[in-house]
Amino acid sequence: MTPTEPATETPGALPAKGLLRFITCGSVDDGKSTLLGRLLYDVGMVPDDQLAALARDSRRQHDDAGDALDFALLTDGLDAEREQGITIDVAYRYFHTLRRSFIVADCPGHEQYTRNMATGASNAELAVVLVDARKGLLPQTRRHTYICGLLGIRQVVLAVNKMDLVGYDPAVYAAIAEEYRALAKDLGIAHVECLPVVAPTGDNVGARSSRMSWYEGPSLLELLESADVSVARPADFRMPVQWVNRPDQSFRGYAGTICGGRVACGDEIVVQPGAQRARVERIVTANGDLQNAADGQAVTLCLDREIDASRGDVIADALRPAPVADQFNAHLVWMGDTVLLPNRTYWLKIGTRTVNARVMSIKYKVDVNSQARLAARHLELNEVGYCTIGLDDAIAFEAYATNRTLGGFILIDRQNNATVACGMLDYALGRSSNVNWQHVDIDKTVRATSKGQHPLCLWFTGLSGAGKSTIANLVERRLHALGYHTYLLDGDNVRHGINKDLGFTPEARVENIRRIAEVAHLMVDAGLIVLVSVISPYRSERRSARELFAQGEFMEVFVDTPLEECERRDPKGLYKKARAGTIRNFTGIDAPYERPESPDVHLLAGGQHAEQLAEQLTRQLLPVIAAPHGEAELDDGAIDA
Ligand code: ADX
Repeated sequence: MTPTEPATETPGALPAKGLLRFITCGSVDDGKSTLLGRLLYDVGMVPDDQLAALARDSRRQHDDAGDALDFALLTDGLDAEREQGITIDVAYRYFHTLRRSFIVADCPGHEQYTRNMATGASNAELAVVLVDARKGLLPQTRRHTYICGLLGIRQVVLAVNKMDLVGYDPAVYAAIAEEYRALAKDLGIAHVECLPVVAPTGDNVGARSSRMSWYEGPSLLELLESADVSVARPADFRMPVQWVNRPDQSFRGYAGTICGGRVACGDEIVVQPGAQRARVERIVTANGDLQNAADGQAVTLCLDREIDASRGDVIADALRPAPVADQFNAHLVWMGDTVLLPNRTYWLKIGTRTVNARVMSIKYKVDVNSQARLAARHLELNEVGYCTIGLDDAIAFEAYATNRTLGGFILIDRQNNATVACGMLDYALGRSSNVNWQHVDIDKTVRATSKGQHPLCLWFTGLSGAGKSTIANLVERRLHALGYHTYLLDGDNVRHGINKDLGFTPEARVENIRRIAEVAHLMVDAGLIVLVSVISPYRSERRSARELFAQGEFMEVFVDTPLEECERRDPKGLYKKARAGTIRNFTGIDAPYERPESPDVHLLAGGQHAEQLAEQLTRQLLPVIAAPHGEAELDDGAIDA
């Protein structure tokens, strides 16, 4: 029960049944805009001036229609904007009756708008799916229902529209309704209500129709007003910490919105993903203290002892805590304009927590029209996939089916902050809690000290033929001559062994860099100075590589040679082949190279002798590798030709 629910239905009081969020699914052809417009009209939400404008516009659009109102004009504005290429993802409309308030998410229904439908469905409790009585169920009906089910909607109202065009025939309606019930069951929708409607004339929309007396059920509005959505609420107490409220020494409270169960003063709680326990001393709200609070309420909890909790933690019932894990299987709806690349690092935002995440594998993608499972190497805009996801840190979570807040997440591109996916956690993988970090006594510092050096990863990036390997080789020779312990990981060489299975697609390059970075990381842990020479064309992967290392242990060296010069050198004859089209995905020709924005060292290598550059770089390195941990400063100025 929400805190604002009064017991009676007095005019002027707050609606008795609280708020219902729903989504409408269907295309303009099915009459979706008309149905929504008619519903707004029937509940009296169209003001007089707008009504007059509607009458005028309706006459202008339909010369022959007399005084009939075209309700689609009330909501069709969006479609016009979309046609002009203006991006409108989802339009939310608010209306209310004496019994209930409503927020309806109106989203376009075409296949290419799966992303928008998912957005609209993600916080809806019910969906109104529309079909045209003349056409019956279409592939899009299945798609809409599937996406609703995927996003956790458990109640659907099927509105069979345009009944006037099938002579109000009950048999037509009954056949569609029966077929739909079977389809919805197949897709895991537990509650289905069907009804026949005629949107423009409002039959069974705001009120029951006299033209279809064979239908004895409620109107659409009555269905929306009476739909019981309370059953789906999660039971165990959960509250993601939004912020720690600490105005002065005397007060410390943890603020957030409860997303499951209830809490009372005196209850024992646990702060997750850790295991610190405490008791609730006060429940503070803007309207004074409470003895207890429940799902949906924004509160500040004061605890009986000092604990270390911060934004992103989850405060949970100590007796029934949330599971904690760092690897999951989850559904993803890809919303990014760039494709999902497995093993690329994205930010995953769940509840109030943001953590580095990688899609480790795509088990399959789902054809949204047929739900067939297809093999996939990546996901494109509007595609749905079932994936294994790994996080850098463990989180407290719930399955999306149990708790949308702690089971629903988004993925964010770290380069441009765009939301690229929404996801639904299914379950945690056993391995995530069964593999622990094994302590070893001889650590990196001990190993490096015995070698008399500061370990370092020197990461050379640049086009093929830029001179990376040549310069790296010369630097290694110099360091070796000075007694340093080094290793050179060269892209071409590694591709003969550990990365033999990888080609040059974007997916393969991401994985190539990930593995090389992990190997380099192990070598730095062994106390070595590692020189890595790989094109590494993507900023995102170079950034992920850097993040594996401790501060001061990673240097990005950009070997900056213009493409024309690389092509002129063409040491392996590969540019020639790429230009001839005999090899594809060649960096700089038909595959991108993302230049480093702020490399630690920028070598302008187009005109200079490799020997000279290697000498300068070595001189720059010596104070870094000879210094004890973390104290050396780099001079990161460009070395010019
Ligand atoms: S990376 O892009 O994944 O970092 P990596 O450095 O391992 O590439 O390998 C690049 C080397 O593979 C090049 O120096 C070149 O010799 C060879 N090669 C073969 N095909 C390609 C291609 N399509 N694109 C780039 N390099 C290629």
